[in-house]
Amino acid sequence: MARDLTQLELLQELAPVAEDNVNRHLSMAKEWHPHDYVPWDEGRNFAALGGVDWDIEQSQLDEVARAAMITNLLTEDNLPSYHREIAENFSQDGAWGTWVGRWTAEENRHGIVMRDYLVVTRAVDPVQLERFRMEHMTNGFASPADVMASQAGFLYSVAYVTFQELATRVSHRNTGKVCKDPIADRMLQRIAADENLHMIFYRNMCGAALDLAPDQALEAVTTILENFEMPGAGMPNFRRNGVLMAKNGIYDLRQHLEEVVQPVLRKWNIFDRTDFTARGEAARERLAAHLEELERQAAKFEEQRDRMLAREAKKREQAAAKASA
Ligand SMILES: [Fe+2]
Repeated sequence: MARDLTQLELLQELAPVAEDNVNRHLSMAKEWHPHDYVPWDEGRNFAALGGVDWDIEQSQLDEVARAAMITNLLTEDNLPSYHREIAENFSQDGAWGTWVGRWTAEENRHGIVMRDYLVVTRAVDPVQLERFRMEHMTNGFASPADVMASQAGFLYSVAYVTFQELATRVSHRNTGKVCKDPIADRMLQRIAADENLHMIFYRNMCGAALDLAPDQALEAVTTILENFEMPGAGMPNFRRNGVLMAKNGIYDLRQHLEEVVQPVLRKWNIFDRTDFTARGEAARERLAAHLEELERQAAKFEEQRDRMLAREAKKREQAAAKASA
């Protein structure tokens, strides 16, 4: 049986593909400026400068949109944690180093523009937002890659970020819709377009890793999907906000399965490949079982959600009937 490639061997073998993909990314990425996406004329001073402090009455966003915005912004704020993860596993050498720097700089823009928008429009409590940011960043983020793969963390990292970039793309897009504000929608669409380009870089790199070391790479992909959590895991109110977002179609299991996991696996041709040995086949069986389980859970969640929404609609009807009686 062929031995596993080391981290160094993987990075060296894949360096030419990384270079092509960095160049591809640079030719596709469009320059944009956070200040163009923020309605500055809505801004005013807070009490420390003689104005008025935040109050919930000032927010134009509903509870769901606020929860989604905070979750997505805290995720973006946690960039130093993701930077460490990517820098450690991709190295700072050549095209890898160029990518790590460029990707980090582009991601930083997302937190900048979202914070500016939320504070200027007074959409969320800026004091709570800052406290949450402190807590979340202090805790940092530990990906499954740290835990599972000291030998070839690259494969686990690149698999994780492929799905994670696509997941954040979906989440940002759908958050834009629930804000019911064309300015927020435009900003989040802009961010989502960045996440999509990032996803393509990582998907191409993970695809090249699958060609180079099929068994080893598929084991990483499978393990990452079996343990996948949205990047906000561990942030304040993550469970509560996650449920609120799933309930309102911003990011739920069906979207995870059909808009994130399946399209990527199709792109890699996972279920039609013929280059796995018995070890890769075993990983592929685990993956198939995981997809079936996701499907089962998604259907169960949808049933629960339908029942819950029907109950809420009925309550609203009854309240309206009472009010008009
Ligand atoms: Fe981002």
